Amino acid sequence: MGSNKLVTSIAVVLIFLPAIAMAKDITVGDDNGWKLNFDYQAWAKDKVFQVGDTLVFKYQAPNHNVYKVNGTEYQNCTKPTGNVGLTSGNDRIPLQTTGNKWYICGVKDHCAQGMKLSITVADKSSAARGIIFSGYQVFMVAIFAILAIVV
Ligand SMILES: *[C@@H]1O[C@H](CO)[C@@H](O)[C@H](O)[C@H]1NC(C)=O
Ligand SMILES: *[C@@H]1O[C@H](CO)[C@@H](O)[C@H](O)[C@H]1NC(C)=O
Repeated sequence: MGSNKLVTSIAVVLIFLPAIAMAKDITVGDDNGWKLNFDYQAWAKDKVFQVGDTLVFKYQAPNHNVYKVNGTEYQNCTKPTGNVGLTSGNDRIPLQTTGNKWYICGVKDHCAQGMKLSITVADKSSAARGIIFSGYQVFMVAIFAILAIVV
């Protein structure tokens, strides 16, 4: 009885774990962080950004900052009016909706020098993730079905 309940609990956790584990922190620029002389477009090119992920901008405050902007402001390197930037040096931005997102550094002409990031956020339940996820679930269910019989 007791061990069966434990097995069931572990099974539930492991089956649904990917949904939690797959929401990831994405450090912009990876080990480079948020800085000058780095090509964020090249960096972002083959990354997958999904709803539920969190962008992390790491930099030495107050040398840089982060403003969320729209497409026009991104093109122009315009700081949005009345929108206070993020300045902590370890700024976390949860990606809550799909679509294009733009971020710039608002210090001096850093944006014009290339401190600008444009990404496209995809739905969590994109086809690729769905296949991996359901494959994993089938696998874990099978494992625990066997365990439940053995234990
Ligand atoms: C971006 O925001 C500015 C105001 O700050 C606005 O004038 C402009 O139309 C917006 N552009 C887009 C593409 O939404
Ligand atoms: C972007 O620049 C264009 C021309 O340089 C200007 O007309 C427009 O108002 C600027 N947009 C913003 C949001 O600053």
